[in-house]
Amino acid sequence: MEPSNSIFLVLSSSFLFLLVVASKGSTLERSEAQINVTAHHYQTVKLSSFLPSSICSPSINGDKKRGSLEVVHKHGPCSKLSKDLVKPLTVEEIFSHDQSRVDSFINTGRKDIQGSKTTLPAKSGRPIGTENYIVTIGLGTPKKDLSLAFDTGSHLTWTQCQPCAVSCYSQYEPIFEPSSSTTYSNISCTSSECAELPSATGKPPGCISSACVYRMGYGDGSVTIGLFGKDKLTLTSDDVIDGFFFGCGQNNYGLFGGAAGLLGLGKDKLSIVSQSASKYGNHEVFSYCLPATASSTGYLTFGSSDIGSNVVYTPLLTTKLGKSYYALDLEAIYVSGNKLAINTTVFTTSGMIIDSGTVITRLPSTAYAALREAVRAEMTQYPLTQAISIFDTCYDLSQYSDVTIPKISMVWGGNVNVEIPSQGILYPIPDSQVYCLAFAGNQYIGIFGNTQQKTLQVVYDVTGGKVGFAAGGCA
Ligand SMILES: *[C@@H]1O[C@H](CO)[C@@H](O)[C@H](O)[C@H]1NC(C)=O
Ligand SMILES: *[C@@H]1O[C@H](CO)[C@@H](O)[C@H](O)[C@H]1NC(C)=O
Ligand SMILES: *[C@@H]1O[C@H](CO)[C@@H](O)[C@H](O)[C@H]1NC(C)=O
Repeated sequence: MEPSNSIFLVLSSSFLFLLVVASKGSTLERSEAQINVTAHHYQTVKLSSFLPSSICSPSINGDKKRGSLEVVHKHGPCSKLSKDLVKPLTVEEIFSHDQSRVDSFINTGRKDIQGSKTTLPAKSGRPIGTENYIVTIGLGTPKKDLSLAFDTGSHLTWTQCQPCAVSCYSQYEPIFEPSSSTTYSNISCTSSECAELPSATGKPPGCISSACVYRMGYGDGSVTIGLFGKDKLTLTSDDVIDGFFFGCGQNNYGLFGGAAGLLGLGKDKLSIVSQSASKYGNHEVFSYCLPATASSTGYLTFGSSDIGSNVVYTPLLTTKLGKSYYALDLEAIYVSGNKLAINTTVFTTSGMIIDSGTVITRLPSTAYAALREAVRAEMTQYPLTQAISIFDTCYDLSQYSDVTIPKISMVWGGNVNVEIPSQGILYPIPDSQVYCLAFAGNQYIGIFGNTQQKTLQVVYDVTGGKVGFAAGGCA
């Protein structure tokens, strides 16, 4: 939301409150004023606020925050990855990949629920997010900068490595050369870390001349295989991890779009969250803010130093999906201040996870239907147009420069109310004047996706067993 809008709304609500008080006695005036007391259940936003501009305007906080990594959208003007490395996908492509990612969670979840022998957090099969976010880290001595996509649904961090024994895809920075780093070493096949790989990657390790080999496959056909190694990881000048375990990929292909690899923010022991914890009093905690559009920046911070007092927390669930993923308890949804009539068992039956790599929030089908009907009822002044990809509620806004949309909040376990930013309510279809309700229904699992997380500070306090949210996280 734009600050000017919030100020306007705050001012107008106080003014209306005075109006209500002042006009007691006049039935007509009071009823008009009362209607307007609900004005804060709507927001009027400029359509341009949904779209990236052609130049990058870094957020102030991103620069100010020492000890945090700058987060940029892979496909925007703030990304260094050049356009010829990052072929922009069509809307159909983006959302067919997004649906594959969602389905991979469903499959894992169903196995867990059915209590089959599959206790591995089946990483194999998870397509890398197509609309994901990038951070730049330093690896080795001397340190080499590498742009990695970050992913709360993956555990192992990896980057492409020389020699590319089989295959490397094109990446923006020079490919990492372990032989040129004085601090790199291979991990032996008999080490306890090598034995952790099945849990982190879903695949057993290999062994080449006593060096441990990792393998990871993604559902969209993307693959990375290589030496499991360790080296010095420089997050920021203040945050250096000696002996960080990572995959040094010598056989890599797939949709990584110019990024040098992936930063795994999952819950597993080999994830960077766990590996960095000793720097922060053995507290596994990180937070991020995803920018409002691709022409702005956010941040990713490890440790708890940047967590504000305005963050509200909901418990992380440990059952079912929560063993492998960040699972939360969604309790209710409000549209324009009205609670949707959804039986809470609908949410508890399907389960809900938060994921940085799923683009669009998925709700259990009956919950989505209730949300869609409520939003449609609030937006009757705008012409509905045909469904696009996973979206079934799309508006042709070619005649408008701004749009009035209902406010939507999601209420998480512990009565934690999180208002969805406007950029999480409508999704602009590129090269058109069409804006779609940025949610979709799903048969099995609910996922709180990255479009709805934009501009929020999201805190993953793994040790504390909770996830927190605060508005205005990047600003
Ligand atoms: C109520 O608020 C809306 C939007 O803020 C405004 O356009 C309208 O004139 C107001 N109505 C009254 C009766 O004050
Ligand atoms: C790591 O193992 C590979 C494969 O055996 C070998 O070629 C390479 O020299 C080793 N690197 C180091 C630093 O030991
Ligand atoms: C919610 O759904 C459950 C299971 O279908 C049912 O037993 C319960 O009565 C429902 N509650 C309400 C308030 O409708």
